[in-house]
Amino acid sequence: MKDVIEQLDAKRAAARAGGGEKRVAAQHEKGKLSARERLEVLLDDGSFEEFDMFVEHQCSDFGMEDKKIPGDGVITGSGTINGRLVYIFAKDFTVFGGSLSLAHARKITKVQDAALKNGAPIIGLFDAGGARIQEGVDALGGYAEIFQRNVLSSGVVPQISVIMGPCAGGDVYSPAMTDFIFMVKDTSYMYVTGPDVVKTVTNEVVTHEELGGVSVHAKKSGVADGGFENDIEALIQIRRLVDFLPLSNRAKPPARPSYDPVDRAEPSLDTLVPPNPNKPYDIKELIEKVADENDFFEIAPDYAQNIVTGFGRLEGAPVGFVANQPLSLAGVLDIDASKKAARFVRFCDAFSIPIVTFVDVPGFLPGTKQEYGGLIKNGAKLLFAYAEATVPKLTVITRKAYGGAYDVMASKHLRGDINYAWPTAEIAVMGPKGAAEIIFRKDLGDEEKMAEHVKEYEDRFANPFVAASRGYLDDVIQPKNTRWRLIRALRTLRDKQLSNPWKKHDNIPL
Ligand code: HXC
Repeated sequence: MKDVIEQLDAKRAAARAGGGEKRVAAQHEKGKLSARERLEVLLDDGSFEEFDMFVEHQCSDFGMEDKKIPGDGVITGSGTINGRLVYIFAKDFTVFGGSLSLAHARKITKVQDAALKNGAPIIGLFDAGGARIQEGVDALGGYAEIFQRNVLSSGVVPQISVIMGPCAGGDVYSPAMTDFIFMVKDTSYMYVTGPDVVKTVTNEVVTHEELGGVSVHAKKSGVADGGFENDIEALIQIRRLVDFLPLSNRAKPPARPSYDPVDRAEPSLDTLVPPNPNKPYDIKELIEKVADENDFFEIAPDYAQNIVTGFGRLEGAPVGFVANQPLSLAGVLDIDASKKAARFVRFCDAFSIPIVTFVDVPGFLPGTKQEYGGLIKNGAKLLFAYAEATVPKLTVITRKAYGGAYDVMASKHLRGDINYAWPTAEIAVMGPKGAAEIIFRKDLGDEEKMAEHVKEYEDRFANPFVAASRGYLDDVIQPKNTRWRLIRALRTLRDKQLSNPWKKHDNIPL
């Protein structure tokens, strides 16, 4: 018996060694942790339950029959984050470059199935060279089996991907179908085809970073929801994110005690909106001042900065914040902002997280670039997302709510549950100057008359009371009381019940 146990210990040690000390040292030299070290940071101490550490590939081509390393390039299992169950897989770059064989894929699909069956989030840590080239179609089939489960899990359990090294070829499409993708600065990159293929096909010369680094995906393409300084920061922030999320669509979002007084007034909010309507201010100040303990986890902070999305808590319970950002492009809705916010709203709706929307929006961005890029269809994504959402929806108009963007931003007409405005709100078809120039075109050139017309339009619409008189707003509130009013409103919506007509699925404009 002693021998058998020693054999088991030896086998486990061999599996834990992965590609060996030299390759682990090479990871460290690149500024990366090994896959096992990453799991130690991500999961609660001692909580990791590993599956399939003895799995080996079955490939015998290209001399692979003699090259078997237990675990086969991915570490899988379950663990806890602050006591709550999660499933994980972490690609081990030290074993065949983390490349995906059929056996490796089956390890991942096993944890995907467990996450779905048991209702818990799944987190994938990526650091790999794509399909195991020696395996051919078996590797391609393995990817498709993962993709299929990504799709079946979408909206059922939260799926999070963290890119911590190379992520190319087949490896990119699984993250792309998960809810959130995060990257690590300088050490991670993501692309369908790498710089060599790009050069051959298009003659373009680019570096890994220029093609698919954090500076590309967290800022320009919007593929990633954020970039962190290093592995440790990334993993600690993922722990923080998981704390905001329900385990599945069958569970309630995790409420926790809050020590922040529910009726905390914030007098500084009374002067947040500047007297000059063209002057910007930082909407994140409002979010942070309203949220419990000023804690806000921002999603995609560097992409489409004209809209802010992220998680916070009110009275201990998670909410999703969506807010136009006057500091960037005056908070206008454009293609990127609409896509970013639509995806966030749909995530919140799928996982029963109430949505709090702060509105200061001058409209949709005009111009050929936007129209050629499909502003109509892309803007419609956000409209669609808000309209279909059945979670509690609370809206506060702080300043401008102009044109179609008024409708889109969780207006009463899209089943907004509680719609408030600050006294500084202006709700109109467009800004007073533009409106006067259209209605009183005949007076264009007569400055005095035009000034009067602008003033007349301002007096009529540059306030919240016309909308309030129609019942489109439930109340006009003091800015300083925003936190307390939102909390009180949320209390009334705890048992909200609303469902959409039966359908196989909707047909959101893609
Ligand atoms: C088998 C691989 C591999 C792969 C890396 N390795 N990628 N083995 N299949 N896809 C092995 C290397 O041979 C090497 O083994 C070890 O992993 C470390 O790789 P290095 O190249 O030394 O590391 P580095 O210099 O850091 O470069 C990392 C890399 C590079 C940029 C990821 O390895 C690379 O370009 N790999 C190939 C990427 C690729 O084209 N993948 C196929 C994509 S097509 P030794 O033993 O020598 O140390 C695809 C299609 C699927 O994925 C589509 C499904 C939808």
